[in-house]
Amino acid sequence: MYQPKKIRKVVFPVAGMGTRFLPATKASPKEMLPIVDKPLIQYAVEEAVAAGCTEIIFVTGRSKRSIEDHFDKAYELETELQLRHKEQMLEQVQNILPKNVTCLYIRQAEALGLGHAVLCSQSAVGNEPFAVVLADDLIDAPKGVLSQMIDVYNQIGSSVIGVQTIDPSQTGSYGIVETLQWLNFNRIRSIVEKPKPEDAKSNLAVVGRYILTPRIFNLLQTVERGAGNEIQLTDAIAKLVEYEPVLAHAFEGTRYDCGSKIGYLEATLAYGLKHPETGVAFREVLQRYATR
Ligand code: G1P
Repeated sequence: MYQPKKIRKVVFPVAGMGTRFLPATKASPKEMLPIVDKPLIQYAVEEAVAAGCTEIIFVTGRSKRSIEDHFDKAYELETELQLRHKEQMLEQVQNILPKNVTCLYIRQAEALGLGHAVLCSQSAVGNEPFAVVLADDLIDAPKGVLSQMIDVYNQIGSSVIGVQTIDPSQTGSYGIVETLQWLNFNRIRSIVEKPKPEDAKSNLAVVGRYILTPRIFNLLQTVERGAGNEIQLTDAIAKLVEYEPVLAHAFEGTRYDCGSKIGYLEATLAYGLKHPETGVAFREVLQRYATR
């Protein structure tokens, strides 16, 4: 049976400024904003680890030290918890990452866009297919979206992009794909970054999950600045579809756009309600607010 190269590496672009959450993000990264008791980036990393990724590449920028600290050993905290016999908490902080997973940090000196961030990971990724995850797209799914996408990738070895149907008025906030049926797959015919609703070819939007073949790096080197005067990953994918099949995967799951305040609040609500520690009490609190 055909077996494409295993997806071992995942890139997390985390150098963005998080301006929509200022002043909360003045000195700490938006990826460290918590949903109940875990930072956004941890949900994303857990999804990638569950999908079998063992090398985590963070493309970071200024004020991102806390991400490194979060995934590092915390000697003082661990000693303190040990002394106080807080075994459960100790286990939580010690087991954020399985032992076989390694982290690498690359600094993106200038915030030139998502495409540029991915290009910064080229030497770390090398010549193998890899995943990209945008942590502010938090997706609650029985089977993680990256795992779903790797299942598709394993059938054929092509790039796979996570997509979702959106309200047609929202196309200006997303990469928009046009697809065609090909074998058993939805193959991308075209992809455009943030088109106006009147110019959009569909209402199928890219969400922050990508499996990409390494050819994307050569293409990223040649793309010009696009939407928002940034080097766009979407523009390199638009070139990639000219060379090889790129598939769209409409995932199963609920996505929360934690890059926006409302999406973030909704995620807090949804995760708070299903959290074993807070669920029951939180439901009561919400009932009080519903009658206000
Ligand atoms: C990025 C991508 C866009 C994608 C979106 C998903 O945009 O450029 O194609 O649809 O993530 O969240 P951003 O939200 O960073 O502006």
